[in-house]
Amino acid sequence: MDIGTTPVGIVDFELATSHFVFDLAHLAAQQGIDVNKYHVGLRQERFSMPALDEDAVTVGAAAASRLLARTGTEQIRTLIFATESSVDQSKSAGTFLHTLLQLPQHIRVFETKQACYAGTAALQLALALVARNPRERVLVIMSDIARYERNTAGEPTQGAGAAALIVGANPNILEISPISGVWTGNVHDFWRPNDRSTPLVNGALSLETYLRSFTACWNDYREQGGAEASDIDYFVHHQPFTKMAVKAHERFVRTHKLENGSEMIEPSLRYTPIIGNSYTASMYVGLASLLHSSNALAGKRVGLFSYGSGATAEFFTAQIVPGYEKFLHAADFQQQLHSRVPLTFEEYVALHDAHERTGLTDYENPQVTCAPFRFAGVREGVRQYEARTNEEA
Ligand code: COA
Repeated sequence: MDIGTTPVGIVDFELATSHFVFDLAHLAAQQGIDVNKYHVGLRQERFSMPALDEDAVTVGAAAASRLLARTGTEQIRTLIFATESSVDQSKSAGTFLHTLLQLPQHIRVFETKQACYAGTAALQLALALVARNPRERVLVIMSDIARYERNTAGEPTQGAGAAALIVGANPNILEISPISGVWTGNVHDFWRPNDRSTPLVNGALSLETYLRSFTACWNDYREQGGAEASDIDYFVHHQPFTKMAVKAHERFVRTHKLENGSEMIEPSLRYTPIIGNSYTASMYVGLASLLHSSNALAGKRVGLFSYGSGATAEFFTAQIVPGYEKFLHAADFQQQLHSRVPLTFEEYVALHDAHERTGLTDYENPQVTCAPFRFAGVREGVRQYEARTNEEA
């Protein structure tokens, strides 16, 4: 039986990040440690941090609104919102976006969850829906605020970011192969119980499981009929911190005796060092980094490794479509990165503390963000979101 006869994949995409940025040099100075632990050991320099009137909904909406301004909403009959920074236990974050983005009434909206893997779960679902009916398009939004407790090992690996993708038939940017290698294990490497705003983490176990699951996914991918290692031109890994992707790739390169190992991964590593972890969006931020790195990638095959603690992982491949470069908007995203407002150490600590709102019922947020949407606060238990007017934006 033939699988995947209609080419399906990414028609267009956009990224967004948050209002503030924090430099890890400030953290290292306060801790009295060598900043190279972060710059070299983790390969992280800075991380994005949301203003009090930003959350996963507003950052995701910002990415999606820029995308829909180009593509329109025609043919979109599904919105899948992937996040592990969920704002409600029942109501999908996507339903807030239904209003903010003025999406059509006849659309299904839901949220996916499996730590950082939830973005790839959403993408794979979207591909399946499009393969079933190539006239439909799916809007996939991956958006997260990676917030760890202060004075823990995870603190330097915080961050914030979103990716919004239009998934459809005959894509302009990336054609995604139906062959995947998958793996799941019931592991407690990183999890966030319902009563906590920050995760519990066993860092060493998360590194080990990430590496172990990459090998397992690769073996399964090959058993399913996937390409040989030497037929893959570039690799993009989930990037909880940049060095994690490098570690996994270096091991793979050694095992498969590949030449030009670093050239295969370095183009995907330009954004995470200055954004930090963006959980569900992280691998897609890496993919954008690769696509933004050159106009000469048409026809190249990319290996994509997605990992979500807890733990589920998937390896799959995609081919870059000729003419893809005409659909990229790298300068817009780079401008967003440059426009972030830097935080001093004291401001960072105050903002980190202020984001701890577990137990609060109704509150109003100060107006800070310059993004297209803001989280105004909670009134009678209902989260209030606002589109900023043209004069404010
Ligand atoms: N110069 C250069 N490198 C240095 C250094 C220095 N002065 N000081 C330390 N390093 C290196 C260490 O050797 C280590 O590198 P290695 O792993 O290649 O040996 C690296 O910096 C990190 O140091 P380590 O002591 O292991 O860090 P840590 O225990 O403080 O925590 C994480 C690191 C990643 C475990 C922690 O940030 C974390 O828990 N993050 C959240 C979970 C996560 O992201 N998991 C990933 C999979 S999802």
